[in-house]
Amino acid sequence: MTNPTPEQTVAALTLEQKAGLTSGADFWTTKEAPGVPSIMLTDGPHGVRKQDASADHLGLAGSVPATCFPPAVALGSSFDEDLLVRVGEALGEEARAEGVGVLLGPGVNIKRSPLCGRNFEYLSEDPLLSGVLGAALVNGLQSQGVGGSLKHFAANNQETDRMRVSADIDERPLREIYLRGFQRVVQDAQPWTVMCSYNRINGTYASQDPWLLTSVLRNEWGFAGLVVSDWGAVVDRVASLSAGLDLEMPSSSGRTDAELVAAVTSGTLDAAILDTAAARVAELVQKAVAGADANASYDVEAHNSLAREAAAASVVLLKNDGVLPLARSASVAVVGHVAQAPRYQGAGSSQINPTRLENALQEIRSLAGTEVPFAPGYGEDGVGTPEQTAQAVAVAGAAETVLLFLGVPASQESEGFDREHLELPAAQLELLEAVLAANPRTVVILSNGGVVRLSGFAHRVPALVEGWLLGQAGGGAIAQVLYGVVNPSGRLAETIPVRLEDTAAFGNFPGEHGHVRYGEGLMVGYRWFDARNMEVSYPFGHGLSYTTFELSGASAVADGAGITVSLTVTNTGDRDGAEIVQVYTGLASSAVSRAPRELKGFAKVHLAAGESRAVQLLLRREDLAYWDTRVSAWSVESGSYTVEIGASSRDIRASLAVDVAGDEVRVPLTTDSSIGEVMAHPVAGPIMTAAMGSGSNAGLMSDPSILKMLASAPIGRMMGFPGSGVEPEQLEQLLAMANAS
Ligand code: BGC
Repeated sequence: MTNPTPEQTVAALTLEQKAGLTSGADFWTTKEAPGVPSIMLTDGPHGVRKQDASADHLGLAGSVPATCFPPAVALGSSFDEDLLVRVGEALGEEARAEGVGVLLGPGVNIKRSPLCGRNFEYLSEDPLLSGVLGAALVNGLQSQGVGGSLKHFAANNQETDRMRVSADIDERPLREIYLRGFQRVVQDAQPWTVMCSYNRINGTYASQDPWLLTSVLRNEWGFAGLVVSDWGAVVDRVASLSAGLDLEMPSSSGRTDAELVAAVTSGTLDAAILDTAAARVAELVQKAVAGADANASYDVEAHNSLAREAAAASVVLLKNDGVLPLARSASVAVVGHVAQAPRYQGAGSSQINPTRLENALQEIRSLAGTEVPFAPGYGEDGVGTPEQTAQAVAVAGAAETVLLFLGVPASQESEGFDREHLELPAAQLELLEAVLAANPRTVVILSNGGVVRLSGFAHRVPALVEGWLLGQAGGGAIAQVLYGVVNPSGRLAETIPVRLEDTAAFGNFPGEHGHVRYGEGLMVGYRWFDARNMEVSYPFGHGLSYTTFELSGASAVADGAGITVSLTVTNTGDRDGAEIVQVYTGLASSAVSRAPRELKGFAKVHLAAGESRAVQLLLRREDLAYWDTRVSAWSVESGSYTVEIGASSRDIRASLAVDVAGDEVRVPLTTDSSIGEVMAHPVAGPIMTAAMGSGSNAGLMSDPSILKMLASAPIGRMMGFPGSGVEPEQLEQLLAMANAS
C-alpha cells in the first residue's frame, strides 16, 4: 500500500484539525494530527539553536551545544559557493542529529544601511552575491534531509519598528535589489520554507500580502514549499491564510485557529484555501520525517575544523604595507579585550551555544610557540581604565609588532534595534592613539557585525584586518591569517564608507511614523558610491592576499544563455592563494536608470604559487534584465554592454564591450503614447512618418530639431492639430493595427 498524499491525509481531517495543523503547538514545533506527526523548526542561520526543555518561553535562552559557524556577515565575505554548500551540509547534519526538521535560515535581506542592527545575519549589499551564496547554503542543508527557511521575506532591512514599519519602495528597486536575491534562492534551491517578515511593504503586511506570497513567490517564481510566518508576524490570520501564508508560528494557543474555523464556517474563508495550507504543512512534515534519522550524529571536531576553515576564508585583509604575515619568531604583543574574550556572533535569535570557543590570543601564542605578552586595554563594554591603557602602552612599546584587537561592543549590535552610528567606542580609539604613539607598527584587527568607520585611522596603521564576527573558531582563523598559515582571500560583501553621511540611505533611514522611504531607489551600496563617483574607505569586493594575481586574456561572448566571460588567472607571487574574480556589467546607453556597474558573476580560484588557470564564468541572461514597469516583466535591453573584470568593484583589470540582443518589449500604443514612441514602433513608425510628411506641416515635420522637440508630446493631443496630416480616426486605426501586428 502506498502512503497517502498530503492532500489525502488532510481530506480525512476535521475542520478543527486542519486549522490546528496550520499553526504551531508551542514555540518550536508544529501540531500533530492523525497521520501527521509534529516536527521541530529552530534557528538558524549559522548554527542549530535548539532550546532544551527547561528553556524560557520567549524562545531565547538555553540551547543545546552546536557548532557556531561564522555568521552571514563573514560567510558573505568568503565569496565562496562551495564553502557555503559545505557549511550548509554540516548545519544539516547537526540539525538532523538534534531531530530538527527545518533550520530557520539563511537570511538574504540586503544591507541597505550599515546601521541595520541585524546586518551580521545578512550576506551582502548586493542581490546576486546574496542569492548565489544563499542558494548554496540551502542546497547544502537540504541535501541532508533538513529544510531551509529563506528569510525574512521581504524588505526587512532595518530593526527599528520592524514589526510595523512600512518599507515604501518603488517597483524597480523592490524587484531588482530587494527581491532578486530571494528569487535566486527560490529558483536555484527550492527551500522547503520561506519565512515572511514582520514589516509592511508599501503599506501591506508581508504576512498578509497576496501579491508577495502568492503572485510573486508562487506564480512567478514557482515556489513549491511552505510559507511560515516570522515568529509573531501574523496580524490577521484569516487575511494571512488567504494571502498565501501556510503556517503561523509560534502557537497562538488556539486563538487564531478558532478564527479560521469561524471564517470557514461563516463562509468568509474558502475551505479550499485552508485545505491547501494544511496539505502544505503535511507535505513539509512528510519531507522532514523522511529526512530524519534517530541515530544521526555528527563529528564535533570535524565541524569545528570546518568552522575554522570558513572563518579563515571570510577574513578580509583590508590593508597591508608588508608587516603581515608575521614570522613565527616575530616579537609581538597582543592588546585588546576581544583577543581573549572574542565577539564571535551577534545577539538575538541566532545566538548559538558553541561546542568550543577559540580565542585569538591563545591561538597566536600557540602558533608563536611562546607566551606572547597581552594587555586587555579595555573591558567588555569597550571602555578602558587609565591603568589598562598604561599597561597596554607598556606591552606595545616593548614589542616589535603590536596586534591590536578593536571592535563594536556586543551591546551595540543586536536583533531588535539598529545601531546609532558607525564609530568604534571612543575609549578604543584613544587606546589606538596611545598604542600607535608607543609603537607605530600596530596591526589593527576588527571584530564587528556591521561595518565601522575606519577613515580616522586606516591611513596611519600599517595593516588592517577585518575580522567580522567569525563564529566559534574565529580565534584560530585570525591567528592563521596573521601568521600566513592561511593566505587571506575574503572580499568585502559591503562597502566601507568614509562616513555614515555618505551612505545611500542616509536621511531616509530608519524612517518616521511607521514609514521608511527607500529614496535612494536602485542605488544601494556600491551602486550608490559609483553612481556618484564618491570616495570610499574600502570598496565592495576589496580584499588583499599575501600573493599577487594577474587576470589576463579576457574575452566575452554573448548568446541566448547570457554572456560567457573567459580569462586566465595567474598567481604571480610565491605563495599559494585564492583570487576572487569579479565580473560587473553596465549599459551606458540604457534608456532607464542604472548603476554604472553591477556584479553579475564571480568565482573563487585557488592557485598554487606560479600557477595559471583558464576560468569561465556565465553571466546569466536573466541577471542582465531590468524590471520593466511598463509591462511588469523582466526585460533585457539591447545594446553594447560593458563587461568589467576585476579584483574589486574599484580595481577593474579589463573592460570589454559586448553587444547583447535584447528582448522585444511591446508596450501597447495608445493615444497617450508619445510621438517618439509611435515613431520608434516597427509598424506604426514608418506609416506615421509617411502620413505626417503628407500634411501641410510636412516641411516642419521633416526638421529633426522640431521632431526632437515634439517627440515627448502625446500623439493623441497633436493629431487633431491643423495640418497634422492625420485624422483622429486614422490614428485610432493605425494604433490598433500596430498593436495587433
Ligand atoms: C526572528 C527570526 C527567527 C525567529 C525565531 C524572530 O524574531 O526575526 O529570524 O527565526 O524569531 O526565533
